[in-house]
Amino acid sequence: MKGIILAGGKATRLRPLTAITSKQLLPVYDKPMIYYPIETLIKAGIKDILIIISPEYSGHFLNLLGDGREFGARFSYAVQKEPRGLADAFIIGEDFIDNDDVTMILGDNIFDQDFSKEIKNFKGGAMIFAKQVPDPERFGVVEFDKEMRAISIEEKPEKPKSNYAVVGLYTYDNRIVEFAKNLAPSPRGEIEITDLNNIYLKSGEMKVNLFNTIWEDAGTFDSLLRVANIMAKKAASEK
Ligand code: DAU
Repeated sequence: MKGIILAGGKATRLRPLTAITSKQLLPVYDKPMIYYPIETLIKAGIKDILIIISPEYSGHFLNLLGDGREFGARFSYAVQKEPRGLADAFIIGEDFIDNDDVTMILGDNIFDQDFSKEIKNFKGGAMIFAKQVPDPERFGVVEFDKEMRAISIEEKPEKPKSNYAVVGLYTYDNRIVEFAKNLAPSPRGEIEITDLNNIYLKSGEMKVNLFNTIWEDAGTFDSLLRVANIMAKKAASEK
């Protein structure tokens, strides 16, 4: 299983915080944001990791993270020139993924959860995680039937069909690269991870795991502050 951390993008929502640095380098309590997805992958048993970054601040990531040795992992880097969409990670990562399965985590998604069991048991198809949230319209939203079988996923729907948000941790078999290459851009001009997820869902090869521990997409001022406070409290309780 290979790992990808998608840490590019322009983070315009966080200006002026992101005027001279990358969102994923901003502090979340006592460490840069990107440490959290790195630690989530490593805790899950994934140590061969491609970090996708935007050209502007690529040197900062290299200075901070190096080859991964200090984390007990191996880091490779790739540059995404323009934010073409989350699915672009599998096109950029084609050579790195090679013939393996792959787990992608978004560089601004912060978890406090051990995913090693689910990832170890992954046997092909796709696997995503969903959590109940008060503001599902901000996310990919998964719709369930009466038996709680996932039936569709919609990207940021105006009228969400459930309050289960799809979080930014996705595991796929090797076919993901070809599926990504064949995607057409959405109306907002991006190649969407939600379209990839619906391919697996339609063919009955998608597993949706529900979970209820800490998760934040730290892409807004409020969520960034919230998650920093959560991590500060957690650190204090562990002292
Ligand atoms: O956080 C979970 C959500 O992430 C999911 O529920 C949505 O289905 C998924 O589309 C995504 O939504 P966001 O609105 O949070 O995506 P955003 O454009 O903010 O990108 C997420 C991260 O990926 C962010 O740290 C920037 C990075 N990124 C984004 C794009 C579009 C890239 O590195 N390259 C890109 O092309």
